[in-house]
Amino acid sequence: METMKDLRLTSQSVDQTRAIGGLLGALLQPGDFIGLQGDLGAGKTQFVKGLARGLAIAEEDVSSPTFAILQSYSGRLTLHHADFYRLVTDDELYATGFFDLQTGSSVSVVEWADKFPRALPDDWLRVSIVSPEPHRRELLLSAIGLKAGERIAALQQALFAMGTAPFSLSP
Ligand SMILES: Nc1ncnc2c1ncn2[C@@H]1O[C@H](COP(=O)(O)OP(=O)(O)O)[C@@H](O)[C@H]1O
Ligand SMILES: [Mg+2]
Repeated sequence: METMKDLRLTSQSVDQTRAIGGLLGALLQPGDFIGLQGDLGAGKTQFVKGLARGLAIAEEDVSSPTFAILQSYSGRLTLHHADFYRLVTDDELYATGFFDLQTGSSVSVVEWADKFPRALPDDWLRVSIVSPEPHRRELLLSAIGLKAGERIAALQQALFAMGTAPFSLSP
């Protein structure tokens, strides 16, 4: 497991977090896997709402699947949205049917992805979110694998193409 490329972004609002997710969502391709890391309230679900927007899925359909554990939405691609927070054992994870959905034709996004390292594919994009201040969020996007590295490079290009992105890009 190797980190190929990192991109660090700062968001000052929920809208900016969703906008970043939206740009990435628009670039996703079948089989892509996004793993989200960050404390409760970090903004993981807000980011998924943005991903949904980028995949032509209604944002309001996306809610925290903490209780359902797994939800799927259809758009330009089908998005499977899981939250590992309440899962404790591997058996519980298997019982959700999560692995049956990893077919390569859809996209998956998982909150608390790092809880089950063995559930993660060889190639995935980690988004880790920290909140140094009430409304500010630092998003670190790291590629584990070549495909994820391509998505990060494309996101960086999309951000530059926007000129003054509504969020800052730190080196
Ligand atoms: N810049 C920001 N980005 C995302 N969420 C923010 C931001 N500033 C404040 N928030 C608030 O933080 C909370 C994030 O909630 P949520 O996305 O459900 O977190 P998580 O899924 O990580 O537990 C929301 O209440 C949202 O309004
Ligand atoms: Mg959440």
